[in-house]
Parts: sequence; C-alpha cells; structure tokens
Amino acid sequence: MHTHTLAYRGTIIHCLGDPGLEQVTPELEIIEDGLLVVYDGHIKALGSTEKIAATLDTSTKTIDYRGQLIVPGFIDTHIHYPQTDIIASYGAQLLDWLEQYTYPIEENLSNKAYAAELSDFFIRELLKNGTTTAAAYTTIHSNSVDAIFSAASAHGLRLIAGKVLMDRNCPENLRDTAISGYEDSLELIEKWHNNGRLSYALTPRFAATSSVQQLELTGKLARDYPDTYIQTHLAENAKEIAWVAELFPNNRSYLDVYRQYGLTRKRAIFGHCIHIDDEDRQLMQQTDSAIAFCPTSNLFLGSGLFDLDAALTQNIRVGLATDIGAGTSFSMLKTMAEAYKVLQLNQQPLTAYRALYLATLGGALALDLEDKVGNLVPGKEADFVVLNTDSTELLARRTSRTDDLHEKLFALIMLGDERCISATYCLGQKVYDSKLDKTAV
Ligand code: GUN
Ligand code: ZN
Repeated sequence: MHTHTLAYRGTIIHCLGDPGLEQVTPELEIIEDGLLVVYDGHIKALGSTEKIAATLDTSTKTIDYRGQLIVPGFIDTHIHYPQTDIIASYGAQLLDWLEQYTYPIEENLSNKAYAAELSDFFIRELLKNGTTTAAAYTTIHSNSVDAIFSAASAHGLRLIAGKVLMDRNCPENLRDTAISGYEDSLELIEKWHNNGRLSYALTPRFAATSSVQQLELTGKLARDYPDTYIQTHLAENAKEIAWVAELFPNNRSYLDVYRQYGLTRKRAIFGHCIHIDDEDRQLMQQTDSAIAFCPTSNLFLGSGLFDLDAALTQNIRVGLATDIGAGTSFSMLKTMAEAYKVLQLNQQPLTAYRALYLATLGGALALDLEDKVGNLVPGKEADFVVLNTDSTELLARRTSRTDDLHEKLFALIMLGDERCISATYCLGQKVYDSKLDKTAV
C-alpha cells in the first residue's frame, strides 16, 4: 500500500446522483483539468488542477493523464464466473441454454485446479475492462467460492459472491440438498463475509431450481445474517416464468415466491426483471431490493427489453450488469452501449452520463456500497479507471471532430471496449496498465 500521496491529472467525470437526462446538473461533476488526490488507498481530494495543485506538498508526485478521462471504477452487479468458458454459445434461449451449455461447464468447477486458473483469468479480465467491483455467481461447489474470493483478494477487486444453491430440476451432480446448501453457505459466510473487500451473497440460482425447504433455509440465513447479500434471477424469460408459476401455483407472481421466503430485502439483487409488473416494482421499492439490468444477455438470449424508466420512476435501485456468459462482453462500455440500444427499442433515451451513472454510482447504490465506491468523493475507496478516447483509429477520428464532452463520451461508449482502458486502479493501486498489457498481482 502506498502511504505517500499521489495525484492523478486528467478530465474527471463522476456522478453525485442520477443525472437523469440532464447534461448539466448538480448530480454530475465534470472537471476538465482536474486532480484526483489519493492517500492510503482512499480519495483525499478532488478538484481543478488550479485549485488543488497549490494545496499539495511539493514532494507529491503527479501522474499525468491529461487528454484522457478519469472516471470511477465500473461496477458489474451480476456476472457468472464459471460461464466464462461458454460465452458466445450458439442458438438457444434461457432454459435450453442452461441445459446445453451452462450446466455441463459448471460441473467442471468441482476441479480445484480448473477453478483456480479460471478465477485468476476472470478477475484479470474484469480489471482489464475497468471493472473494480463485481457481484458474481459461482457453482454449487464450495471450492468454486474459495477460488474466486482468493483471486479477487489477490488482485484487489471488490467482490460479492456466494455458493449457488440448487437442489432440484437440474442435473444430479449439480445438486446440493437443502441442508448441505445451508451448512456450506454458513461455513462460507464465516470464512469470507466482510473479509477485506469481500462480501458473501446467498445465491439460490432461481426459484425453479430450489425446493421450498431450500428457499426457507435461505430465508433463515438472510434473517440470521442481515448484512449478507442475496442474489438470484427473476422474470427473465417467458418459459421460465410459466415454469415458476407451475411450481408455485399459490404465489401472485414470480417475485412473490422470493418475498414469501424472506428473500426480498436490502442487499437483495434480482437479475433481469424484464417481465415484472407495477405491483412487483412496488414490492421491490418497499423492501429496498435492487435490480441488475443485463442488456447484452437479454438481447443474446432473446429474453426481452428491460423497462428502465418504470424501475427508476418507482425509485428502485438499478445497476448495470454483464451477466457473462449469457452476456456477450466483459466490457461495461459495451454493456452501456447495448443498454442504450435496448432503451431505444423502448422509446427511452439514455445519455452517456446516465449510462456512466448506471455503471458506477447506480451499481454502488444497488449493492448498498455507495458509502465506499461509485464515485470519486473524498473519503471513498480510490477505485478509478483511465479512459482513452483516442484508443482506436476510428474512435480517435470520431472524437477529434468535437470538443463536447458528452459527445466524446457517447462515442467512446458506442465504439469502445477494453482497448479504451488505459489503466485501472483499486484502492489506489494500479492493477491494470494497457502499456504493460497485464494485470499486476
Ligand atoms: N436463470 C437461472 N440461471 C441462470 C443463468 O445462469 N443465467 C441466466 N442468464 N439466467 C439464469
Ligand atoms: Zn445470471
């Protein structure tokens, strides 16, 4: 850990709240020539170079990123690390895709060496894409949880993760039992929850693969450990929803199943939420549950178009997510671009600034981490990304035509990918540098 002060100079953009569709608003802070001052892993000061430079000790080193953008580290609110190796698998919608591609690869995670190698690759891939916080699914195997937490801890990424719970309607060798799932989760909570930057998430895969007893016991854990997370899938696909309705005929809606077993609360994150109604949204708002919006996945599996306006109008916390491996990119820039297109099909505009909000502070709010990450306010953890608007020939050509920052950022989102990430910092440590093209351990 650096115990001396460092300053980073560049164009700083971050959100203090949801900018909505505004380009000039107090919710959005833009500092054209700014300095971000970091000490002991945290942000110490932030402001114009003119103002801040005079306050710095003469010994303070400045790292010059002039001409580039400095933004908060991206937050991926829903991703499956075991699915890295089946990303881009052809031709199926959700339930067939699970059977054909997902379950077979998840069986491989019982192998410790494979889980460790994959975890290291996965965390490096996130950092290379500017993601500094993620909420990840594992498999039913406890060792898959150990592997991903160990890798995140080694690389400095802030990670929420947990053992997948599923005890029915899935392949034999991917089943736990209500009791074993409960006991394994308990053990993993004790081992990993609130250990440095790691937090535990109770992870029932979705209502269709958990028995009533498993849902009840997960609800018990959710009550006994109220600061753990809960992550699951909700209302993604028409066949999935019909199946859940068959399995739980007495519940008003899919979300009502989770409510009945005590799984709607603060720190509960529901993936997808495409086909929900106003009553569900009201319940989510009242229980402080959050939504992970997964645009590349929703397009790839043909699941449907998420209604962002309805969620935000009803004051639900919404974060953005890749949902690898139904999602098609680790890049939150690409994910923002696909969110824009999904919303276009819903006649809902999305500014570049609001897209950035969803990928940073919106995600932090969805994960109840807004006191730690999500923007560059002094006191927060120094997680940030340096973005290069000239990183490809096409992008350089397009951005050179304008001085307008919104236009530049929009082009970067539409045309960008990991090539735009110059550097990624976690807790003030450089964990990825494109010049070295590697992630530091
Ligand atoms: N629903 C249940 N499991 C999954 C999964 O692994 N991915 C997606 N996209 N949806 C799911
Ligand atoms: Zn998912």
